[in-house]
Amino acid sequence: MQVFEAKKIGKIVVLGTGGTIAGTAASASDHTGYTAGQLGVQHLLDAVPGLNDTLQGATLVGEQVAQLDSKDMDHATWQTLAQRCIHWLAQPDVGGLVITHGTDTLEETAWFLQQVLHSTKPVVLTCAMRPATALAPDGPQNLLDAMAVVLDPMARDVLVVCAGRIHSARDVEKIHPYRLDAFNSGEAGPRGWIEQGRVRWADPGSWPVVHVHARQALALPPADWPWVAVLHSHAGADARQVHALVAAGVKGLVVAGTGNGTVHQDLLNALAQAQAQGVALRLTTRCEEGQIVGQAAALQTAPLGLNVYKARISLMLDLMK
Ligand code: SIN
Repeated sequence: MQVFEAKKIGKIVVLGTGGTIAGTAASASDHTGYTAGQLGVQHLLDAVPGLNDTLQGATLVGEQVAQLDSKDMDHATWQTLAQRCIHWLAQPDVGGLVITHGTDTLEETAWFLQQVLHSTKPVVLTCAMRPATALAPDGPQNLLDAMAVVLDPMARDVLVVCAGRIHSARDVEKIHPYRLDAFNSGEAGPRGWIEQGRVRWADPGSWPVVHVHARQALALPPADWPWVAVLHSHAGADARQVHALVAAGVKGLVVAGTGNGTVHQDLLNALAQAQAQGVALRLTTRCEEGQIVGQAAALQTAPLGLNVYKARISLMLDLMK
């Protein structure tokens, strides 16, 4: 899994069509008794904190194409929307489009646009399950995530962004009437994720070679391969296991940390001592899904979000110098 730097683009156009993302309710605690499609697209953009940091110099143009509850989406609106997409995508300085849309028929609009646009530039539909007036609305984060996807060099086609996940127009379906993560891509799974403003694609195309010495493993007798062991951080983790492994001659340790790569303090102290004695360390997470986001601990994070067992192999190959 690979993270790419954002590309430099001149302009992102945001086309508003209504939906809950632009909805308002009389009370902040009301997530169901609201009216969809009340606020204009500029209002939605103004409500996103940190938008300029994400845009990295790209300018935003907002255009209100429709103002609908998407249960009432119709073919005439699709036609207008597609024509506005074609108009904007033809401009050389436009890097991609974001479309704000209701969740109820979002998957249908996404597929219609995928069929008619034939664009290599990304067109990212996004939405919200809570109205803009909610105590904790999800629309601003979804909009921010949609921008990050448009800016990603690997983004193309019509995509849907909701609750930190990227779906293809082909596979996306609304599967839940209430929860924030209301979309799924069935067996195909999501195309990727947006984490802390960065895109991680499920299929980056090809895996980079990270072990320049890997071929040595074919010539070196297995008994001479560097000893790399696996450790897990957990409640009551005991530093003596680190001391014992170092005393026995371990060359590398891969630690499966808790959550986003946190490590029990007792283990961390012992690992720092091991590192000072020349033992190579790598950090992974015990969590089965996702990978460490950002730099969570003093230890070097294992590459490519590998699990602890694959990270052990990678470190062992790295140490074959
Ligand atoms: C709509 O689809 O416009 C209303 C429901 C929603 O956006 O969640």
